[in-house]
Amino acid sequence: MRLTFRRSSLSRIKTDLLALFLHQDERTFKKEIAEYSKKLGARFSPVDAGDFSGKEGEAALVYLQKGSAARRLLLVGVGESRNATLEKYRRAAAVAAKRARSLKAKQVALYLPPLSSHVAEGMFAFAEGAYLSLYRFDKYLTKKSGANANSKVEEIVLCSDKPRMVKVGASAIQQAQVVCEATCLARDLSNAPGNEIYPETLAEAARQSAERSGYTATVLDEREIKDLGMGGIVGVSLGSSRPPRLIILEYGPSSGKTMVLVGKGVTFDTGGISIKPSAGMAEMKMDMAGAAAVIGTFEAVARLKLPIHLVGLIPAVENMPGGNSIRPGDILRHFDGKTSEVDNTDAEGRLILADALAYAEKFKPAAVIDLATLTGACVVALGHHASGMMGNDENLMGRLKKAGDKTYERVWPLPLYDEYEKLIKSDVADVKNTGGRWAGAITAGWFLKKFVGNYKWVHLDIAGTAILEEPSDYAQRGGSGVGVRLLTEFLKGWK
Ligand code: BES
Ligand code: MN
Ligand code: ZN
Repeated sequence: MRLTFRRSSLSRIKTDLLALFLHQDERTFKKEIAEYSKKLGARFSPVDAGDFSGKEGEAALVYLQKGSAARRLLLVGVGESRNATLEKYRRAAAVAAKRARSLKAKQVALYLPPLSSHVAEGMFAFAEGAYLSLYRFDKYLTKKSGANANSKVEEIVLCSDKPRMVKVGASAIQQAQVVCEATCLARDLSNAPGNEIYPETLAEAARQSAERSGYTATVLDEREIKDLGMGGIVGVSLGSSRPPRLIILEYGPSSGKTMVLVGKGVTFDTGGISIKPSAGMAEMKMDMAGAAAVIGTFEAVARLKLPIHLVGLIPAVENMPGGNSIRPGDILRHFDGKTSEVDNTDAEGRLILADALAYAEKFKPAAVIDLATLTGACVVALGHHASGMMGNDENLMGRLKKAGDKTYERVWPLPLYDEYEKLIKSDVADVKNTGGRWAGAITAGWFLKKFVGNYKWVHLDIAGTAILEEPSDYAQRGGSGVGVRLLTEFLKGWK
């Protein structure tokens, strides 16, 4: 799908569906309607708007008379103008794009409302909402059915003739295209079933992304992982016939400050010997969403050519029960020499992340951010609307919070108070991989903290935000691709 910017006056936009955005407050609404009808001439008059009043989520389709460049108009409400936010723009754009699809339009034009401040960001948001709302994971459907039948919007054209918008439009929309494609790559990787994406094929996907986007991917095999002493990665993968991989990504010149991104890459999580119940287990094909977010972020950062040095670490394993599986009570030795007691084989994410976080030290990072679908407890705490955030540096967490609010991939802090540490004390090893019933997201965070080196660190538990049970305004059910927009936005401001 193409996102394009076009400088055009309203009456000249030739398209299958032309979306106009209106605000709910009465005076603004009247002014906007009057202006649009004046620009469209006799083809559209204020009466044609009918009951439409510009409320959020509202849309009205109007057929234009013969002779107009656009076949039909869609009036889309964005709500009160004084409460306008980037998120409302995304949602309004999504309404327009989804309606275009259901009308089987090949192209939709969004005539953007005049933006007076944060112009590029506003345009970017319209583009994101439209693009992301049209994503579907349909590559395995041999017969596209329902609204999807033979119908794909091929182009989203964002139009304006306002000089301030024309000035930044082309570049803002081009950047949005990159970020949206990267988000959809993360969605595709997450949604792909476990028989398609397993450690070796995840590594292959990373290699392909690296090649097309301009960064490098180095893949370590089981022998090399073992030789490095990464007992967590090796241990968790023992039950599977599919060997583990450690995927190492690198972008940018190694001079200057290094940022390391770590992504949990459990390509399928059965729970292992501590097996999960079957209801809902299929969701665990998305237990590599952290890895997908890291690969997507690399793709975006490399294509945008951000001036930073970035390293990515993805421990990739499949967590299966089997004759060779690790069992409860086993003790593993991690990369930094520390040992962990496996109380529950379903708390596998922290076991593999422990190796990756300890290994990150080697890159002398200024900061490390890990993303992981780590705990069901985090979903209980925050649901699907915020990722759990823990870490050792308030400033870094503050910056992520800002990027989260702006992109609406929001994060919310959970405390790593000292008192929680004793919940993961083991009698037989340095640490235990479970912490009992309470504060499960935090005890998981504390486990990770034990393996964090001498660097600033933030852990994002994306269990709730990466895997959606219900569709939202511009994301389908399933993998959301969360993390890509958040991290790309954060890294744009990272110095
Ligand atoms: N991958 C799961 C966490 C998860 C749950 C992600 C639901 C997304 C949705 C993780 O490996 C896991 O199984 N965690 C256990 C930990 C427990 C055994 C201490 C959990 O949350 O129940
Ligand atoms: Mn698990
Ligand atoms: Zn897991």
